Amino acid sequence: MIKKLENKLVGKFKAKECLYTYSGTSALYVSFLYAKSLGRTKILIPNIICPQVVIAAIRAGLEYEFCDINLDDYVMDLNSIKQIYKINNFDILLLAHVYGHICSNDIISFCKFHNIFIIEDCAQTYKFNPLCDLSIFSFGHTKFLDNDFMGGGILSMNDLSKLRYINNTLANPVFEDLDHNIQEYRKEFYNLDKSNDNYFTKFQELLLKYTKFYKVERYNFVLYKKLDQLEHICKNRIKKMQIYKQEMIHDLIIHPKLSHDSIAWRYTFRFLGNREKLLVNLRKNNIDCSSWYIGCNKIFKKKVLKNSSILENQIVNLWLDEKTSMEKIQDNIKTIVKIIHKLSTKGDNEYVFFR
Ligand SMILES: Cc1ncc(COP(=O)(O)O)c(C=O)c1O
Repeated sequence: MIKKLENKLVGKFKAKECLYTYSGTSALYVSFLYAKSLGRTKILIPNIICPQVVIAAIRAGLEYEFCDINLDDYVMDLNSIKQIYKINNFDILLLAHVYGHICSNDIISFCKFHNIFIIEDCAQTYKFNPLCDLSIFSFGHTKFLDNDFMGGGILSMNDLSKLRYINNTLANPVFEDLDHNIQEYRKEFYNLDKSNDNYFTKFQELLLKYTKFYKVERYNFVLYKKLDQLEHICKNRIKKMQIYKQEMIHDLIIHPKLSHDSIAWRYTFRFLGNREKLLVNLRKNNIDCSSWYIGCNKIFKKKVLKNSSILENQIVNLWLDEKTSMEKIQDNIKTIVKIIHKLSTKGDNEYVFFR
C-alpha cells in the first residue's frame, strides 16, 4: 500500500524515486545519515529555519554552520554561502525554501561547481528541483498537503535504496507515547523562563529530548487522495498571497520580493514598527499570526548574522491556508492597516476593532 502512495508521489512531483517517511524531520534525519555514509560531514543550514532541522543534523552526527539570509526573500543568501565556504569547506547544503520562498538557482550552480551535496528542504513548498541530490517534504500540520496522518517524504532523480535501508533501521512509533510526548514538550516549553540567561540552552535541551525519528507504519490514504488537490491548493494560495501583497499597504510594511515560482506558506513580511505590539493587537482582534523564526544562532550558540538579526525582529507571518477564507483575509487586512495606522500615530495603546 505504501508503494502505491510512493508511486503517486513520484507521478505528482515528476520524480524518479520516492521514499515515504514518518515525517519531514525523519526524512531529513535519513538524508543526513545517508550523506554521512558517503563521507560528507559538514552541513550549511540557513539561520532562519525551524530548529528541528538542526536537531536532525546534530543527531545524525553532522557538524553544522549557519548562513545568513537575504532581506528581500528571507532565504539563504549566496554571498553569505560563498563567504562561509572560503573559511569552512562544508560538503552538504540544506537548500531550504522557508516560507515557501524558492531559493535562487545560483545557489544550486555554486554547489554543483564545488561538489557540494544538496539536500533540498521542500517542507514549506509545493515542488522539488530535480537538480538537487535529495529533496525532502513534510505533509504535517499547516503544510501544503496538511492531513491528519501527516507524514513526510524524500523525492529524487537518484536511487533511494540505501535511504530505504536506513529508514528501516528507525524505531516504530508508539502512538500512545506520541500524544504524551507532545503534551510534555508543550508543558516544559511554556515553563521555560525567557528572561533567564539559560533560556536558549534549556530550549535546545528540550528540542533534543523531544525530537524523534521513526519509520512509517501506516498507509496514508488521506494524503493519497489529497494529492489530487495540490494544483487547487496552490492556486488558492497564490490568490491569497496576491490579496495581501496588493491590499495590505502601509509605509511600515515591507513585502517580500519573490521569484515567480514561489507560493507562500504563510504570508510573511517585514514590519518596521513595534512588532511585539502589532502581534498583541492582531491576536486581540482574532487574527492568527506568528513571528517565526528566531535565528538558530541564538538557540545553538553560533555567531550573530547581520540580516538574520534584523529579520528576526521584524518578521510577521499571517495565515493563508485552506481554513482561512479570502473574505477573512480581506477583513483582516483592513483591521491590520487600521491597527498599524493607530500604533504609528498614537504610540503605546492597544486596539480592538469589532467587525
Ligand atoms: C523547513 C522545515 N523542514 C522540516 C520540517 C519538519 O517537518 P515535520 O513537521 O513533518 O517533521 C519543518 C516543520 O515544520 C520545516 O518547517
